[in-house]
Amino acid sequence: MFRIVYVSSAVEPFSEGELRQLLGEARSRNEACRVTGMLVYSQAKFLQALEGEPAAVASTFDRISADRRHRNVKTLQRGIFSDQLFGNWAMGFHSDLKAPGQISINSRISLDALDGLTALDFLRSCSRTQTG
Ligand SMILES: Cc1cc2nc3c(=O)[nH]c(=O)nc-3n(C[C@H](O)[C@H](O)[C@H](O)COP(=O)(O)O)c2cc1C
Repeated sequence: MFRIVYVSSAVEPFSEGELRQLLGEARSRNEACRVTGMLVYSQAKFLQALEGEPAAVASTFDRISADRRHRNVKTLQRGIFSDQLFGNWAMGFHSDLKAPGQISINSRISLDALDGLTALDFLRSCSRTQTG
C-alpha cells in the first residue's frame, strides 16, 4: 500500500458546485484505478490523502499536481505503509462550505500549517465524520 498526503492552495476559491464537480470526477477515476483517499477543503486550501497501488497513486498524483485549479502543491507524506486508512471511499470529502449534513472545520486550523502526522490524524477524524 502506497500513500501520498499533500496540501495545496486553490487558485480561486471553489464554490460548492465546483467542489462537487471535482469530487465526481475524482471518484470515478479513482474507482477505475482502485485509488482511495480523503479530500478536505478549508479556507481555499486542499488537504488530500491518496492510497493504493504505487503506480496508480503516483500517476493520479502527477495528474493532480498538474491541475491549474490549485498551486503550491506540497507533499507532507509519501511512502509505503502496511495499514490502509481510507479504504471506504474512492475519495472521502469534507469541506468548510456550509452544506446540509456537513460539519464545519474549526476556522483556526490552517491546512498548510499541519505536519505530516498531524495532517493524517486530521484527515482520519474528518473521514469518520464525513457524510458524502
Ligand atoms: C484538489 C484536487 C484534488 C483532486 N483529486 C483527484 C483525485 O483524487 N483523483 C483524480 O483522478 N483526479 C483528481 N483531481 C482532478 C485532476 O487534477 C484532473 O483534473 C483529473 O484527474 C483529469 O485529468 P486529465 O484532464 O489529465 O484527464 C483533483 C484536482 C484537484 C484540484
